[in-house]
Amino acid sequence: MIHPAISLPRLIAHRGFSAQAPENTLSAVRAAKEANCSWVELDVQLLGDGTPVIWHDADVARCSDGRGALQDFNWASASKLDVGSWFGDSFNGERMVQLKTMLSLLDELDMGANLELKVNKGRDAIALVDRVIPMILDALPAERLVVSSFDLNALKRTRELAGPDRLALGSLFTSLPPDWAKRCQAVTAYSIHVHWPRLKRAQAQAMREAGYQVLCYTVNDPSAFEPHWAWGIKSAITDVPASFQRFLGDETT
Ligand code: G3P
Ligand code: MG
Repeated sequence: MIHPAISLPRLIAHRGFSAQAPENTLSAVRAAKEANCSWVELDVQLLGDGTPVIWHDADVARCSDGRGALQDFNWASASKLDVGSWFGDSFNGERMVQLKTMLSLLDELDMGANLELKVNKGRDAIALVDRVIPMILDALPAERLVVSSFDLNALKRTRELAGPDRLALGSLFTSLPPDWAKRCQAVTAYSIHVHWPRLKRAQAQAMREAGYQVLCYTVNDPSAFEPHWAWGIKSAITDVPASFQRFLGDETT
């Protein structure tokens, strides 16, 4: 298996620079770029009409001025939501972003992306993959892209569509399951992304020895995380890249 020649940075801005701007928005990605982050992590889902958008929750309530399930919105209704003022007045009028618009911005800014296929409860993993993956393959170079998911079916379908060596896939785990190696082999994963407080040093070593890049999320305490770098962790997915940069100095990109 030959993976694309990806050069992951030490820091990946989680949902964009989400401590600085409303998560998963154009502003959050621009803020990450301004903070010298070369990669962002973003969540991708479908609206009810099949439009791929950058959004984390199953619902719109937490991050917009609206209410209701994301799948009950089409683009006409979702694009009217204010997705910025919940975060701060300076983001009033920020709009939900379609995947295609976000891909254009990432290309324009020359940034890499970890796109997470977010399969919330009751949503169809295959429909998401079939809509999203062809768009992604055409939009960004494989060297600047990792597609991840907690959902094994989504990863399997992605691998089917992308072929054996065209796209780097990341297996996401809240805690590493006993069958992690089998799950990663099933999709010829490039990387494993784990919730860092539950990670043990021996697990990190086993993943590294099996040939995977190991990424940790969501790491917001640079000093508590500091010993983990020596475990061979490739990247920290963080809401606060600027705090890490103050801590790590020039080694962050
Ligand atoms: O991709 C890493 C992380 O984003 C996974 O969790 O809930 O923040 O999407 P969540
Ligand atoms: Mg995510």
